[in-house]
Amino acid sequence: IERTLVLVKPDGVRRGLSGEILRRIEAKGYTLAAAHLLDATPELLAAHYAEHEGKPFYQPLVDFMLSGKILAVVAEGQGVVPGFRSLAGATNPTEAAPGTIRGDLGRDWGLKVQQNLVHGSDSDESAAREIALWFPGLGL
Ligand code: GTP
Ligand code: MG
Repeated sequence: IERTLVLVKPDGVRRGLSGEILRRIEAKGYTLAAAHLLDATPELLAAHYAEHEGKPFYQPLVDFMLSGKILAVVAEGQGVVPGFRSLAGATNPTEAAPGTIRGDLGRDWGLKVQQNLVHGSDSDESAAREIALWFPGLGL
């Protein structure tokens, strides 16, 4: 079965949008396979965001992801990897289409990092790697 890692980032949890985001995933027809609320660590984020190391937004991104609780979710269903990316919308919430999570619920807050509410794995390979990082020992 196809699975993806969704993170409700600290801005989403802080703004009380966790339920609305889970609702949209379930309303689309995907199934929640696992979920937990946690504080990330620098080590976990270094592994999760390894592909972005060295980019100008890397440190602001890591600091932001350490600024509050994160809701980590495994969602499953046929096509869920591209399907959730499509639900999430474009990375920049100003440009994200209405109807998407980032387009409906996000905006530019004038900060160094795009606070865009959610993360979604970008391929099956990323999903497997990220699920193992955020849900060690789950055996998914
Ligand atoms: P994720 O689902 O969070 O991985 O988003 P994405 O795949 O749409 O974006 P990407 O993996 O390229 O970047 C990860 C995160 O870094 C984004 O979600 C943003 O929070 C932040 N980010 C990416 N690109 C930029 C950028 O050009 N400027 C700023 N300020 N932040 C960025
Ligand atoms: Mg990404």
